[in-house]
Amino acid sequence: MIQLTQRPRRNRKSATIRNLVQENSLSVNDFIYPLFLIDGKNKKSEVQSMPGIYRYSLDLLLKEIEICMNLGIQAFDVFPNIAEKLKDKTASESLNKRGLYLTALREIKKRFPEAAIMTDVAMDPYSSDGHDGYVKNGEILNDKTLDILAKMAVAQADAGADIIGPSDMMDGRVGYIREQLDVNGFTNVSIMSYTAKYASAFYGPFRDALNSAPKMGDKKTYQMNPANSLEALTEAELDTIEGADFLMVKPALSYLDVIKLLKDNSTLPIAAYNVSGEYAMVKAAAAKGWIDGDRVRDEILLSIKRAGASVILSYFAKEFAISRK
Ligand code: PBG
Repeated sequence: MIQLTQRPRRNRKSATIRNLVQENSLSVNDFIYPLFLIDGKNKKSEVQSMPGIYRYSLDLLLKEIEICMNLGIQAFDVFPNIAEKLKDKTASESLNKRGLYLTALREIKKRFPEAAIMTDVAMDPYSSDGHDGYVKNGEILNDKTLDILAKMAVAQADAGADIIGPSDMMDGRVGYIREQLDVNGFTNVSIMSYTAKYASAFYGPFRDALNSAPKMGDKKTYQMNPANSLEALTEAELDTIEGADFLMVKPALSYLDVIKLLKDNSTLPIAAYNVSGEYAMVKAAAAKGWIDGDRVRDEILLSIKRAGASVILSYFAKEFAISRK
């Protein structure tokens, strides 16, 4: 007879015991659901590389939000697909109060005052260069960009945004945006900083969705090098000093160590963006019958939570909510 004092399998012997000792779990409350907005009426077009994810015109987007709210999802991150002819060097369309995005934000907030609406602050959807910052002679100018971003953030706050999401990775933008929000009376508008946003190949399907890929070069002079993690701590420290309310890591799955690193070194809530390419990979493999898509989805989302993210931005949010009904 073998005498073992410790038998960890005892805590796995039945579903009931497993449930008792389960350390982490997911709830619809953990999610922010990203949504793509297009111009027009009664329009819905699927993002080819993201099966199940659509670009909606405002009327249909409102319906989609209502469906999601009924499923228990209460937070949304809205991204606009801007017509090529409206793009310019300074992203001026981002300040157009009668433009697609600000009109939609006002309408969404009016219809769903209890929802939390997050917005994206970066120049790329409106920039004729397809970059997150102002481009001069091939260079992304940091300080000139700050001014544009802060005006964009104030315009979005004015339209009803609850959470501003600077996704641009310019230096000093959180502090600059915080100051401009405050002097304009938006002290209650939160900032979820894209703290550690990596120069990643996982954003490909998103850029298809918005037609927002850079026209030249790449984003490596502002987004982080995937080889680095210490830099994430520097960014986290700066964002915290500058007034961020949440720190985000993006992408999520290949950066679980960075999520954990920030979690262990900050008292702020940590968010993670389970990005478009991460969604696309699961969908593609599931469509081929190579993996069980639903189980892989739940396992990935749980791993992000376990790593330390209390907020998860994910294209899976809606189907996760449906699976829990
Ligand atoms: C734009 C932005 C990007 C994403 C969110 N905001 C793309 C990029 O930086 O090129 C990517 C989201 C995703 O892939 O799901 N600044």
